[in-house]
Amino acid sequence: EERVEIPAMLLRWYDRHARALPWRSPPGVPAPSPYRVWLSEVMLQQTTVAAAWRYFEAFTTRWPTVEALAAADDADMMAAWAGLGYYARARNMLACARTVTRDHGGRFPDNEAGLRALPGIGAYTAAAIAAIAFDRRAVVVDANVERVVARLFAVEEPLPAAKSLLHGFADSITPSARAGDFAQAMMDLGATLCSPRNPACALCPLNEPCAARRAGTPERFPAKAAK
Ligand code: ADE
Repeated sequence: EERVEIPAMLLRWYDRHARALPWRSPPGVPAPSPYRVWLSEVMLQQTTVAAAWRYFEAFTTRWPTVEALAAADDADMMAAWAGLGYYARARNMLACARTVTRDHGGRFPDNEAGLRALPGIGAYTAAAIAAIAFDRRAVVVDANVERVVARLFAVEEPLPAAKSLLHGFADSITPSARAGDFAQAMMDLGATLCSPRNPACALCPLNEPCAARRAGTPERFPAKAAK
């Protein structure tokens, strides 16, 4: 059955084409620390990969561990965040770093439920940290992944109504092995080949099972609501 092959096809592509990003470890190197994964995921909800890059470098140079960030001066941290916007998120980050340090001995919980209990960590961030930092099977769906899944399954329902349907389809293709790589491979595919306009289907590792590509109308997905 095709769906069984989707993770294998995607991971084979990711092994060759993963973007080298500062919050990732190179192939064969152990997963980055949960702190680095958490920091990058919170920043990336706020801005693009290109913009998050230098903030991530600045934060991890200045505060290399969650304990270091927990001890940061509030005003210093807010100043370092300046430009990323949405300052409530920065305040939540400090609260989260302090909770992890004070209540969890400096170790992030290794599962979605424990992560979700922390300040500022919602369903997406908890799933991303569980998968990427702890290699737990978790369904990680951001806007890019929604587009990939909408195309793969030719989902006719428009967003936002389609969200739970898309999450279910994403769940159906998420492997239990290499869950973090799978999640980041889906993000990379959405950010590169499976672009909103002119997707590069000829180069896509999932072009064969992709229902939207087979129908010849990948750009039609995710469906747009009727006006
Ligand atoms: N966007 C959100 N999280 C990401 C990640 N880990 N890698 C690339 N893009 C992302």
